Amino acid sequence: METVEQRIQALRKELEHHNYLYYVQSQPVISDYDYDMMLKELEKLEQENPQFADVNSPTQRVGSDLNVEFQQVKHQSPMLSLDNTYNEGELKDFDARVAKELTSDYRYVCELKYDGLSVSLTYKNGALLRAVTRGDGVQGDDVTANVRTIKSVPLKLRGTDYPDEFEIRGEILMPHSTFAKLNAEREESGDQPFANPRNAASGTLKMQNSAQVAKRPLDCCLYFLLGGQLPTDSHYENLEKAREWGFKIPLYAEICNNVDDISRFIAKWAVERLNLPFDTDGIVIKVDNLAQQRQLGMRSKSPRWAVAYKFPAERVETLLESISYQVGRTGAVTPVANLSPVRLAGTTVKRATLHNADQIQALDLRIGDTVFVEKGGEIIPKVIGVNVGKRPADSQPTLFITHCPECGATLQRNEGEAAWVCPNDDCPPQVKGRIEHFISRKAMNIDSLGEGKVELLYDKGLIRNVADLYQLTAQQLIGLEKMITAEDGTVRKIGFGQRSAENMLAGIEASKKVPFERVLYAIGIRFVGETIAQKLARNFKTIETLEKASHEDMIAVDEIGERIAQSVIDFFAHPENIALVEHLKQAGLQFVVDESAFQAKSDALKDKTFVVSGVFTIPRDDIKKMIEENGGKNSGSISSKTDYLLAGDKMGPEKLKKATSLGVKMISEEEFYSLLSK
Ligand code: IVH
Repeated sequence: METVEQRIQALRKELEHHNYLYYVQSQPVISDYDYDMMLKELEKLEQENPQFADVNSPTQRVGSDLNVEFQQVKHQSPMLSLDNTYNEGELKDFDARVAKELTSDYRYVCELKYDGLSVSLTYKNGALLRAVTRGDGVQGDDVTANVRTIKSVPLKLRGTDYPDEFEIRGEILMPHSTFAKLNAEREESGDQPFANPRNAASGTLKMQNSAQVAKRPLDCCLYFLLGGQLPTDSHYENLEKAREWGFKIPLYAEICNNVDDISRFIAKWAVERLNLPFDTDGIVIKVDNLAQQRQLGMRSKSPRWAVAYKFPAERVETLLESISYQVGRTGAVTPVANLSPVRLAGTTVKRATLHNADQIQALDLRIGDTVFVEKGGEIIPKVIGVNVGKRPADSQPTLFITHCPECGATLQRNEGEAAWVCPNDDCPPQVKGRIEHFISRKAMNIDSLGEGKVELLYDKGLIRNVADLYQLTAQQLIGLEKMITAEDGTVRKIGFGQRSAENMLAGIEASKKVPFERVLYAIGIRFVGETIAQKLARNFKTIETLEKASHEDMIAVDEIGERIAQSVIDFFAHPENIALVEHLKQAGLQFVVDESAFQAKSDALKDKTFVVSGVFTIPRDDIKKMIEENGGKNSGSISSKTDYLLAGDKMGPEKLKKATSLGVKMISEEEFYSLLSK
């Protein structure tokens, strides 16, 4: 008789097989119902017999509701990028370089260049061990839990002839169908839609809750095998093998013997790619033979044995109807082109950014011009030139505005800067910007009050500064609504019902417990970032002492220089700021430091000053916290007062040089832990 364990194993194998037929081969042989029945049976057996749990069971593909922080993992070998080429001439140059280096015949494999985000999957004994994002190429985020939810990624491999341990790299993609559905849902719920499927895939993969990832079906196409024991010496044949092991290796790859073959492949896919269910942005051309790949070797960031050919960005001509001007949160004014609507790369384009006055001048853009508009990877298109031949005879050069379109103040332009800026602190976008900074995650973290809602409350006259937030009542909020146009031109409705109003007020109420150092950061004193706010809070302990502190008092504090000291003094010299702090105090915010939070756990590091630099096995902020909890001090820059430079991976060469020249002791992460345990 079959034991429970055998039944569990059999179900897992069977389900993984059907999963493969459905998601990799797109050829299901059983009904969804039969699949679900098997899955339910497996779920039940696993629940009743937790001793047989397996992270790679098909039941795990739904993800977990636990939030996880991603660990940084170093890649076995760096994840490189590719050199780009844009025309046949550049491809010929590439081929000539290859021919010159190689002494024997060679052939190429042409593949599509998938426009997603690259990922590295490690398999050990036929099971998925780890999935890591590209990150900076040297190390990335461990996103295994999220990748397990991608149905086309095999959790267990088929067959037996795979290496004991190997890595396979590929691209995580969001299919157009998922993208369209996701953005529709986001618009419905008032969230900002994603600009393109790549951003959506990236945003999804970085979510900390894998159950949420599972709800946005992603796909994964693989294109590169690494490891000591690969089956053959041909990239193409290895991919065929990997396909047998259950990986989704697209069937689009072709062997090409020369540049003519490559050009034919490009010509075919330049058109065909538009019918694929996901985005591609080019072709990748690789020397097929692995020994030849090794012979050609690498540059610092890209291999010499491969190159990308990028499809030209789509470009159209249309009429520049007018130019409008947007004022940003810092007061900077950005010109925007209003265009006669035109189809471009799958969407209708009506607006395009013009960056700044210099760009208008450089292109000599005039109202009534026929302009060239191009869309690269981003949704916001660019005006890249004028068809001067079509310029109306009576057109006039564009004069940039001289006054703020929001408040009428005379615009200013600082020496050496490109942007014209509105100098009025009370100009609405700046006021809203300060409120948005106040509620942001690292400040008061009032996430129930997103960007659109600040705008709504501002427009209805309910908030003029951050203290007004604490006077809001549910009665005022319920029923408010407004249509909001995002920067990319999309329009959505936001507003308050009973629940969202209560939710928001609860978030505001909860913020009253946010510690003083974050309140100090949140009120937005110029140059007072998170770390400086912490230093000020710990040194001066209360807002009253800080208000009264002299320039000398302040610069006596570690890392507080002239510029910051002056800025704090300027802030408190304004009666409106004093009044604002007073209102926030009355509302019940924290303006006294909570000393118990800083009480040392030990004095192992008493009076020692550390500079922490580079990447560690745990987040750098945790290390800094440990230093403070054990009596030490953190500093951002190395000086003769520094006791230790705690050096992680990839520390900048400048720091190393400075530490060496000042004779500052350098210690590793391990040495740091042993200091702590002393
Ligand atoms: S091979 C050492 N093949 O393009 C070369 N990359 O611009 C490894 N990409 O980082 C890459 N499709 O994220 C390769 N068929 C394909 C690809 C591909 C998309 C991405 C990949 C890479 C980037 C380089």
